[in-house]
Amino acid sequence: MASHQLAGSSLGFRFSGVGSYLPAEIVTNDDLAEAMDSSDHWIRERTGIGQRHVGGTTSELATEAARAAMKRANVGPDEIDQLLLATTSPDYICPGTAPAVAEALGLDCGALDIQAACSGWVYGLVHANGLLLQGMERILVVGAEALDRITDYTDRGTGILFGNGAGAAVVERDPSGEGQLLSFDLGAAGEFVHILYAEHGDVLQMDGKEVFRQAVKAILRSANNALDRADLSVGEIDLVIPHQANIRIVESAWKKLGFSMEQTGMRLEETGNTSAASIPLVLDKMLDEGRLKSGDNVMFLGFGAGMTWATTIHRWAGESR
Ligand code: UT7
Repeated sequence: MASHQLAGSSLGFRFSGVGSYLPAEIVTNDDLAEAMDSSDHWIRERTGIGQRHVGGTTSELATEAARAAMKRANVGPDEIDQLLLATTSPDYICPGTAPAVAEALGLDCGALDIQAACSGWVYGLVHANGLLLQGMERILVVGAEALDRITDYTDRGTGILFGNGAGAAVVERDPSGEGQLLSFDLGAAGEFVHILYAEHGDVLQMDGKEVFRQAVKAILRSANNALDRADLSVGEIDLVIPHQANIRIVESAWKKLGFSMEQTGMRLEETGNTSAASIPLVLDKMLDEGRLKSGDNVMFLGFGAGMTWATTIHRWAGESR
């Protein structure tokens, strides 16, 4: 396989602004237990989820998160060269959701959706880096989901997991070279399409046990590839933000990889699984908590339906709060 080590690129890569948005309406585990044979205790213990947000459309949520990220980056709409919107719950099957978001933000640039399920936002970062290498200055990478549109909240196999939300980052060249995309690993295994999917006009169907098993495998493989390519050890990663699916998936993988929960950014209890939005939602919270400073090594680790997976390792430069 081709090497994906990018260290030494003179372009640099910085996160000049990050933002996120959660719609106001909350569905608690107790709310769900009224409509299905489950309980707050079971859901917390088996998933780590306490509640999820619902409401809004993907384009509305994406627009709010993107506005927040652009404000933090202090950039106007004319300074964005491309919008990449990762979503698995688009407003329409056709057209994509990104053009509507670009319109709402007043952007005058290319805009397209990335459909790589829960890995989509991390795929977006890698593709943004490619566009920066081609000469663009600044890319808006958004992950946004209105998963309540494709979730049956009376089905205890799936309804306990999913919620709505959005996260966004403005990424740009870092001429100082301090910020870098050090390495990445992207992958897909289409033989697993039918362990997590939604037909046109239908809700998500899932073989939860198999998704769990394959997710742990994908995490181990992808994290190790990205670490090898960046020539970094687990102990040299200051912060790792995994996709927020199930706390037990993270714990199982961490046991084998050697990551500690202290190194890990989590927001699962508050948000549930927000697919492509989950990693930037956590990133925004980590910045709020002052968990990132320039020069830190940060790993983003996405995995999900497809199966797809995507890992990036960055030397952080950009926003710190
Ligand atoms: O982005 C990726 C998205 N997908 C995922 O991350 C899914 C990964 N998988 C999972 O998160 C877990 O498989 C679930 C949370 C979906 C299910 O947890 P589990 O530990 O795999 O439960 P299970 O299916 O093995 O069921 C264990 C027991 C069963 O009862 P018996 O047969 O032992 O009596 C189930 O009927 O728990 C029962 N059960 C529940 N009980 C209360 C299953 N779901 C529920 C529920 N509430 N929601």
